Amino acid sequence: MPQKIGVVTGGGDCPGLNAVIRAIAKSASRRGWEVVGALGGYEGLLPPEKLRPLDYDCVGGLLARGGTILGTANRGKFSAKVGHGDSRRLPVELLEETKQAMKRLGLSALISIGGDGSLSIAQQMHEHGIPIIGVPKTIDNDLDGTFMTFGFDSAVSCATDAIDRLHTTAESHNRVMVLEVMGRYAGWIALYAGVAGGADVILIPEIPFSYESVCAKIREREESGRRFSIVVVAEGARQTGGDFVASDTQSGRGEARLGGIGAVVTAELEKQTGKEARCCVLGHLQRGGPPTTFDRALCSIFGAEAVELVAAGDFGKMVAYQGSRVVGIPIIEAVGKLKTVNPAGSLARTARALGICLGD
Ligand code: F6P
Repeated sequence: MPQKIGVVTGGGDCPGLNAVIRAIAKSASRRGWEVVGALGGYEGLLPPEKLRPLDYDCVGGLLARGGTILGTANRGKFSAKVGHGDSRRLPVELLEETKQAMKRLGLSALISIGGDGSLSIAQQMHEHGIPIIGVPKTIDNDLDGTFMTFGFDSAVSCATDAIDRLHTTAESHNRVMVLEVMGRYAGWIALYAGVAGGADVILIPEIPFSYESVCAKIREREESGRRFSIVVVAEGARQTGGDFVASDTQSGRGEARLGGIGAVVTAELEKQTGKEARCCVLGHLQRGGPPTTFDRALCSIFGAEAVELVAAGDFGKMVAYQGSRVVGIPIIEAVGKLKTVNPAGSLARTARALGICLGD
């Protein structure tokens, strides 16, 4: 049966959002469905509606384009994040208003592309009887139930490239170069990029660090003639017994904005080792630009699969990448808790086996 469906992108932007929008629009159009995108997140659905038609032809050229043509929001009426994995309940009136807005617009289903915040809203909408499907987006890779979120590979690729570049300058100056990467309370970006880039030290939130351990690694390298070191620090890394370093508590959003640990670590390493050290904060470069080949493929699969789930009426599900296949899992399974790095898991063990110091 022909349908009219809505697409929403919420939370921080991320490479691959447009590729998912494109895949949804193409596969839905081929079924004869109409697709509209809500501009600026869920609020675009409410009066005065801000919508954009997404037909087969208008999504050409989107596969490799960064950002989102729909715009996005991580604050406002539909903000659900209150910090460290927690989310708030939306007022039932707002859920009802959304349901009525969808009725008015003739939307038979919604596809929400987002991270834990947007998807926890999607779960609440599902519980309120709104037909909704989720697509897992975040460079942090911290959503449960899916081995990988889209955008993560692109962020890791950007961070690995940065490590490669820092290597040559670190070596030329015999310096310690500290790279601060994103990831919030999960160390996935730091750990994957650190291993892929051949870092000497990787500090992640899941493994509290001591300067003693990090300095010992730098001295060990010095004694063996390698007079430079590369330290990758996740923005959520913290010293044993210490707290997260936040640049702002973002009162409007209710969630701390992490950042600044790179500079703290750099100053301390310089003091304790006597070596010259510099800090590079990669920041939003990890979120911008075109998605990698892998992300383009994953986004295409996710988008097409989300449309399949709508066609099957299998609502309340999120598409999930589980190694050899992409399946629909209940959204609630993905948003209940953050997926963090297992300190005893295979990638952490690989890092240790290669002589990388994890700070403990
Ligand atoms: O969740 C994605 C992310 O990029 C985090 O890694 C980072 O902590 C946060 O968003 C930054 O958010 P903003 O763009 O609002 O500063």
